[in-house]
Amino acid sequence: MRIFVIGSGAREHALVWKLAQSTRVDKIYAAPGNPGMQPYAERVHIGVSQLHELATFAEQNAIDYTIVGPEVPLIEGIVNLFRQRGLKIFGPTKAGAELEGSKAFTKELLTSAGIPTAQHRTFSDYNLALQYLQRHGAPVVIKADGNASGKGAIVAHDEATAQEALKQMMVDRIFGAAGDVVVIEEYLAGDEIGATAICNGTNFLPFYLSQDHKRALDNDKGLNTGGMGAYTPLSFVDAAQTDRIYKEIVEATLYALKERNIDFTGVLYTNIMLTKDGPRVIEHNTRFGDPETQAFMVLLQQDILDVLEFAEGGTVDPSTLWRPGYAVSLSLTANGYPGAYRSGLPISGIEEAEELENVYVFHAGTAIKDDQLVTAGGRVLSVVASGPTLEEAVQRVYEAAEKIHFEGMCYRRDIAHRALTGK
Ligand code: AMP
Ligand code: GLY
Repeated sequence: MRIFVIGSGAREHALVWKLAQSTRVDKIYAAPGNPGMQPYAERVHIGVSQLHELATFAEQNAIDYTIVGPEVPLIEGIVNLFRQRGLKIFGPTKAGAELEGSKAFTKELLTSAGIPTAQHRTFSDYNLALQYLQRHGAPVVIKADGNASGKGAIVAHDEATAQEALKQMMVDRIFGAAGDVVVIEEYLAGDEIGATAICNGTNFLPFYLSQDHKRALDNDKGLNTGGMGAYTPLSFVDAAQTDRIYKEIVEATLYALKERNIDFTGVLYTNIMLTKDGPRVIEHNTRFGDPETQAFMVLLQQDILDVLEFAEGGTVDPSTLWRPGYAVSLSLTANGYPGAYRSGLPISGIEEAEELENVYVFHAGTAIKDDQLVTAGGRVLSVVASGPTLEEAVQRVYEAAEKIHFEGMCYRRDIAHRALTGK
């Protein structure tokens, strides 16, 4: 088969790497792709939001299956467009991607279907929102309704922070139109985890649960980022609780969508807070997690194409999905991320890192300049290691990270600490 992957991050690099191992795959294209993919995929210079150009490329190059990494083209309706043009594509339609594209839509769906989530109010008027905030007090969470690239949620532990966030979103419009509608929600305390499922409209194939580390600094300090590191599976959630999460959250969401005539196909990746009162949805995403996917791909035993084609009505044996053990991904980031940072800094040591057993380095934000690999993003590389125990996987990922260098390189030192220390 001829495959077309859309996206340019470490998630897409990991997908391309795994697709290249499939005996059913003959050729892979990636738009726009990244330098790390070059051994397996031909890069195509089309941006992820150039939907018509992407569809035309797929037609002209006899692509059999297109796989979408990031949320933006999904929210913009790439799946509808490809299907209208008779092209097979992995992902939800525009209506399904609303689950990620609009927090207000998702909140309404969850609440009306009785799916547990934080209590919330939605506002389009700044003064009313401010009055509500003054009554509610802190801690509280302020979220821009639209898509703000993972930066649109402010967890405010005091009222001044909450009011400042509200003003920045609704008055200063730092996220543009994405902040014209704001959701103010109850603060949930607990362990935050991820549930990933491949969905075919009615049924789903559950992946292992995972845990990401969203804050920039150790001990969950600093700003929210796209994700600083993740690991899978989770030893602290037992089988019964896992079943409950998939049934009460994933299955119930698919059912609620179906009642609205939305057949959800593709990935549903849900952030969940395990509170003392049970699991609560923080948000739904309608694409693979990054950096979770990098860990999943390293642990996946089955052909990724078969797994993706579950969304198209294929069958997969869930009991043989994974090889034994654990996988950990670690984001190596530019100094300053998630704020302003420099690009164009030379990177070295990737080959040395990859000489370690069961270590893989996926590119997140890199470029080639004068034949030299350089940084070209906030998250620069995603280092992944697997091992028979979580301890070994964690140890190996840090051993690998120490071999890599670029000026100002940052990473968290405490990935998987909750599972390892029980705290
Ligand atoms: P979101 O953009 O909704 O994924 O939120 C970003 C991050 O903010 C989440 O991954 C959580 O760590 C945190 N967060 C969001 N909503 C809540 C909440 N209601 N209570 C506590 N933390 C939250
Ligand atoms: N792992 C965070 C995200 O993909 O949104």
